[in-house]
Amino acid sequence: VKRVRTHHLREMKARGEKFTMLTAYEQYAAQTFDEAGIDVLLVGDSASNNVYGNETSLPVTVDELIPLVRAVTRSARRALVVADLPFGSYQASPEQAYLTAVRFMKEANAHAVKLEGGLAMVPQVRKMTEGGIPVMAHIGFTPQSEHNLGGYRVQGRGDAAARVIEEAQALEAAGAFAVVMEMVPGEVAGEVTKSVGIPTIGIGAGVDCDGQVLVWQDAFGLRTGRMAKFVKQYADLHGVLRRAAEDYAADVKAGTFPGPEHTF
Ligand code: KIV
Ligand code: NA
Repeated sequence: VKRVRTHHLREMKARGEKFTMLTAYEQYAAQTFDEAGIDVLLVGDSASNNVYGNETSLPVTVDELIPLVRAVTRSARRALVVADLPFGSYQASPEQAYLTAVRFMKEANAHAVKLEGGLAMVPQVRKMTEGGIPVMAHIGFTPQSEHNLGGYRVQGRGDAAARVIEEAQALEAAGAFAVVMEMVPGEVAGEVTKSVGIPTIGIGAGVDCDGQVLVWQDAFGLRTGRMAKFVKQYADLHGVLRRAAEDYAADVKAGTFPGPEHTF
């Protein structure tokens, strides 16, 4: 199998062919999504709430994410693996961003990194791309800034639309190879997609983006509870796992597992 590279995503955009991204944080999800032909696997800082049990993405650290990225790069044969730079590991300066990104590349074999932010992150994106590191940007609603943005809210409505377009163009000029747009009105995301040469990847940004991304525990129903409007649920893994655990417990208590066929 041929590895997906950043230029393949750009070529897909040029051909009008959609591509796919999912989060992955460990071996079996990474292998399974890779087998399914998912083009990009993101080891998101959403591991904070989907692996480490935090309520937001803010507490997760570089040291906590690196082993997860390593597991995913070891497990994916075809997908491009992108490591998310966590809160506080890149905002201070382009040098900080570069040194953090280098850790993900050297210690975990990441193929690219992702950071959140618009015009303020242009120097970071330039420093990393000039230093040989492919960078995916992330604009619109950026969860690491949730306290600054006043909670989970759609970004780029009304007059703010022009700003989203300006950010995407500035990030492209700085060298970003793709840009995630989160919770941006579909029409605005469509405008952004037409106004840049790099691929756009939507999450709550409508159907006109070049690619789509979802957090897998949301999309496949491992996480229960309130789901954002942009999530489509493709499976009920929570139900499957819970029933399996209940069946196992019932068998053990009833003395029907292990059976003779499981016994030496
Ligand atoms: O961390 C994450 O899962 C993300 C995606 C939702 C884009 O940043
Ligand atoms: Na993220």
